[in-house]
Amino acid sequence: MTQTVPVALPGRAYDVLIGPGLLAQAGDLIAKQFGAAKVGPKVGIVTDSNVAKVHLPALEASLRGHVTIAGTAILPAGEATKCFRELAALSERLLEMKLERGDLVIALGGGVIGDLAGFAAAILRRGIRFVQMPTSLLAQVDSSVGGKTGINTPQGKNLIGAFHQPSLVLADTGLLSTLPLREMRAGYAEVVKYGLLGDATFFRWLEGNAAPMMTHDPAALAHAVRRAVEMKAEIVVRDETETGDRMLLNLGHTFGHALEAFTGYGPRLLHGEGVAIGTCLAFRLSEALGHCPPQTAARVAAHIKAIGLPTRVADISGELPDASTMVRLMGQDKKVTGGRLTLILARSIGEAFVTRDVTAEQVEQFLAAELAGG
Ligand code: GLY
Repeated sequence: MTQTVPVALPGRAYDVLIGPGLLAQAGDLIAKQFGAAKVGPKVGIVTDSNVAKVHLPALEASLRGHVTIAGTAILPAGEATKCFRELAALSERLLEMKLERGDLVIALGGGVIGDLAGFAAAILRRGIRFVQMPTSLLAQVDSSVGGKTGINTPQGKNLIGAFHQPSLVLADTGLLSTLPLREMRAGYAEVVKYGLLGDATFFRWLEGNAAPMMTHDPAALAHAVRRAVEMKAEIVVRDETETGDRMLLNLGHTFGHALEAFTGYGPRLLHGEGVAIGTCLAFRLSEALGHCPPQTAARVAAHIKAIGLPTRVADISGELPDASTMVRLMGQDKKVTGGRLTLILARSIGEAFVTRDVTAEQVEQFLAAELAGG
């Protein structure tokens, strides 16, 4: 039942293993690839307090007898953990575990843990290897693959970080059954992104199969995660450091990051929820600018809404940003070059493109109409 998607980066190639039951096999798989206890590397586990309760005992049991566990760092759950203070504390904790250059960090958790532990691994002794064990849908289809690691700052999300590829990704789709529905939905925003940016057939498949997937049908889940990872792997191999095609993976993210920054990166708006609204905005803007045919944005929003995700800024509870605040926050996004916003727009479902041709004034006008309910 396990499927393997290779990420064929020259000199840094690794596999993403996808399927149920991988947590229980982790010790065996890690020992086979990196060497067994005594001769093989020591491992330092990084996880968060929520994931630790549910999955840490199983991981430790799976590792025991296969590899030497140097220690476990359990961090607070939540996006606020992706900060300088936690990075410093984690780096010192990993040094206290006496992890050396040849050892391994295992990131067991969602995107926050993967990004933070990956960044700590990137800077620890100038870079040690790490294994991603993503426990959320979002992390399985997106953040655990491709080597983006980093932290947030008050100035914006992921503005401090490093490209540091994992040496192995174990995406145990069986773990997703313990994920709260809201997290599952938020992860879905990153799944549908792949269909929307480059594979209309996958989007059509999702329109017909999202329901069983969201209720954890193993075959539907495995297909969706595999297709998303395959697309991500292809893009990352073409453009690891995001000078071109990789920007397509940011569909919905420039708007989404601005909304997350405004709402404080907290439970008011999860990352995937920001991406869901951002994706709908990107399609509506594409339509407004005449790039894609009428009714495309409505089809996208109808599907995203059917999953139970927000599709409009007004779907966020509480105080909302005005159009000029949104544009200012979008300007903080790291996809700004020479002062111009980089936007990912679409010509149709399955055909996204990168543009720097839309002015801030055009975006502000569009957002003002959106926020007025237009
Ligand atoms: N999450 C977007 C990327 O990895 O490039």
